[in-house]
Amino acid sequence: MPFVIRSCVIGGSNMGILLSAPQTEFEIIEEEWRDAVKQIAKRGEFIGGASVARFEKAFAEYIGAQGMVGVGNGTDALILALKSLGIGPGDEVITVANTFVATVAAIHHVGARAVLVDCDERTYLMDIGKVTQAVTARTKAIIAVHLYGQMVDLHELLPWAEERGIAVIEDGAQAVGARLYNRAVGNWGQLACFSFYPDKNLGAFGDAGGITGSSPELLSTLRKLRNHGGEMRYQHELPGFNSRLDPIQAIALDIKLKYIEQWTAKRIQIAKWYEHELNGISNVVLPCHRNDQSHVFHLFVIRVPDLARSSLMKHLQKKGILTGIHYPTPVHLTPAFSYLGYGPGDFQTSEKASKEILSLPMNITVSEQDVETVAKEIRNLLGGVSI
Ligand SMILES: Cc1ncc(COP(=O)(O)O)c(C=O)c1O
Repeated sequence: MPFVIRSCVIGGSNMGILLSAPQTEFEIIEEEWRDAVKQIAKRGEFIGGASVARFEKAFAEYIGAQGMVGVGNGTDALILALKSLGIGPGDEVITVANTFVATVAAIHHVGARAVLVDCDERTYLMDIGKVTQAVTARTKAIIAVHLYGQMVDLHELLPWAEERGIAVIEDGAQAVGARLYNRAVGNWGQLACFSFYPDKNLGAFGDAGGITGSSPELLSTLRKLRNHGGEMRYQHELPGFNSRLDPIQAIALDIKLKYIEQWTAKRIQIAKWYEHELNGISNVVLPCHRNDQSHVFHLFVIRVPDLARSSLMKHLQKKGILTGIHYPTPVHLTPAFSYLGYGPGDFQTSEKASKEILSLPMNITVSEQDVETVAKEIRNLLGGVSI
C-alpha cells in the first residue's frame, strides 16, 4: 500500500474538514513550481544546484541564521546535527518524552543515550525545570522540541547550558515561522533541525529537511556530512551520508516560503476562532499559549477526558471532520525505546496527555464556518455531559 498523508483521505475521497491540506497548497504553487522544475530538468540540475542554494539562502535569511543546510528529511537533520557536534557513544542527550519518535531515534542512531524528561502539563512542551535536574557529567546536548508549533522558552536555558558546555539543538520540525522575543525558531540553539514533511506548516511535496546554524565550521561539517563526507566530488574528508535536499522539493519550499507569513497568520486566526467557539464547553481544555507568534499552530491540540476521546473522534469522523492524536504513545512507552529502561508512571504528564489530546482540523483551508461546525459537533457530544 502506498503511503498516503493519512489525514487527507476520508473513505478514499477528499471531502470534509481536513486535518491538513497539502493538496491545496500544491494547487496554489503548482504552475510556478512546474515551470521551475522544467528549467532544472533542461539544465540537468538533478542533484543540488542553484535551486537548492536559493532555498537554503532564503530560509536562513527568513530565520535570521547564518546559514541553512538542506537535507533529505527532518530525522536526518537531527542525526547530522548531533554528528556534527561530535556526539556519539558514551554521551547523553536530554529530550522530552512527548515528541515524535524521530527526535529520540536520532539520538539512538548516533550511538548516544537518550535521557527523557516529562512535559509541562499546560503547554505539553519539555519541562525546563526537569531538564536541569536530568543533567549529568555525560550530558552533551539538549534537544528542545517546539511541539505543535509552540516555542520552548529557551532564554534562560541557553546561557545555563552554554556555561556547562552543553549544546542546545532545536527541533523546529513543527514550528517554522514561530518567534519569541522577536527571535525566530531556528535562531536560538547551536543548531536547529527542520522537517519539511508535506503536512508540516512549511511542507514539501515529499520528504525534505534542513538544519540552520550560525557557526561557519558546523555548517561546513554539515555540508560534508550530507554529501558523502565532502563538499567537492570525490573529496571525502569525513565518513558521510547521502542526505541531500532534492531540488524538486527545494523549488516547492522556496515558493511556499513566500506564503509562510500569510499562512501562519491564517493558522493563528483559526486558533482564535476555535478558542472563541470552544470556550466554556465542559470537558474541553484549550491550548495554553502567549498571544503572540510564539505559537504558530502547526496543530491545534485540545484535551478531552480519556473516556470520551475515541467516541468524539468517531463522531467527528462520521460528520466528515478529521482529527488526529499527536502522539498516542509517549516515546518511553514505545517498544523501540523500551531498552532505555523507562516504564509506565515515569513521565506521568506525558502519559496522561497522550490519552486525552486531540488535534482538530488546522490548515489554510479551514474557515470560520468550519470551526463553528467542529465546535457544534464537539458541544453536541461533550457539552454538559459529566464524564
Ligand atoms: C518534532 C519532530 N521531529 C522530527 C520529525 C522528523 O521529520 P521527518 O519525518 O521529516 O524525518 C518530525 C516529523 O514528523 C517531527 O514532528
